[in-house]
Amino acid sequence: MSICEPAPCTGYRISAARSTSRNRFSIQRRMYPLLLAVLMAPPVAAVSPGFGWGVPASPEDIRANDYLVTKDGVGLPPGGGTALEGELLYRQRCEKCHGSLGRGASAEELVGGIGSLSSENPDRTIGSYWPYAPTLFDYIRRAMPIDAPLSLTDPEVYAVAAYLLYLNHLISETQVMDAQSLPRVVMPNRNGFVPAFP
Ligand code: HEC
Repeated sequence: MSICEPAPCTGYRISAARSTSRNRFSIQRRMYPLLLAVLMAPPVAAVSPGFGWGVPASPEDIRANDYLVTKDGVGLPPGGGTALEGELLYRQRCEKCHGSLGRGASAEELVGGIGSLSSENPDRTIGSYWPYAPTLFDYIRRAMPIDAPLSLTDPEVYAVAAYLLYLNHLISETQVMDAQSLPRVVMPNRNGFVPAFP
C-alpha cells in the first residue's frame, strides 16, 4: 500500500518534484556564461582607479603624523622641562579632569597606588602601572588635554610629564626631563609586564 492514497496523488507529487528540479537545473545552465564571465574577469582593483574617495597620503601628511615615541625614547624631540615649570600648566590644563595633585576628579588617577597592583584594589596610575616614561611623553603629546589634543608645545609636554613623575616621587622638582633623561627614569612597574612577543 502506498503512503499517499489514492495513487494519482503520489504520481502528482513525483512529477511536481521532478519539474521543480528540472527548472532549477535549467536556470543554473542559463547562468553558466555569466558565471564564466565573472570568473574570467580581471580583479576589480586592477582595472578600477580606486573607490572614488580619499586622497593618497603625501610625504608631508605622513611626516606630520609621524611623531611616535618608543619606550626606549626613540623619537623624543629636542627641548626639556622640569616639574617646577609643569605645575602651573597642570593646574591650567589638566587639573579640572585629573584633580589637584593628580587624583580625585572625574578622569583617570595619575598619581599614587605604587605597590597596589597585586592587592585587592589595584590602583593603576602612571607611578604604579606605566612601565616606561618615554611613552608618557608620547601619550600626553598625542592625546592630552583630551579637549584640545596636540595643543601643547614639546617643552610643555616635557614639563607636565616631569610634574606627574615628580608627584609620583620618581624624580625631583628640578630634574630636567628631556630626550636623554626621560628614558633613564626607572618606573616601578618596569618589569611587571609579560611581553606578548618575546
Ligand atoms: C577634559 C578632561 C581632561 C583634561 C583637561 C585632561 N585629561 Fe588626561 N585624561 C582624560 C580622560 C577622560 C582620560 C582617559 C582616556 C582614556 O582612557 O582613553 C585621560 C587620560 C590621561 C592619561 C592616561 C592615564 C592612564 O594611566 O591611563 C594621562 C597620562 C593624562 N590623561 C594626562 C593628562 C595631562 C598631562 C593633561 C593636561 C595637559 C590632561 N590629561 C588633561 C581627561 C582629561
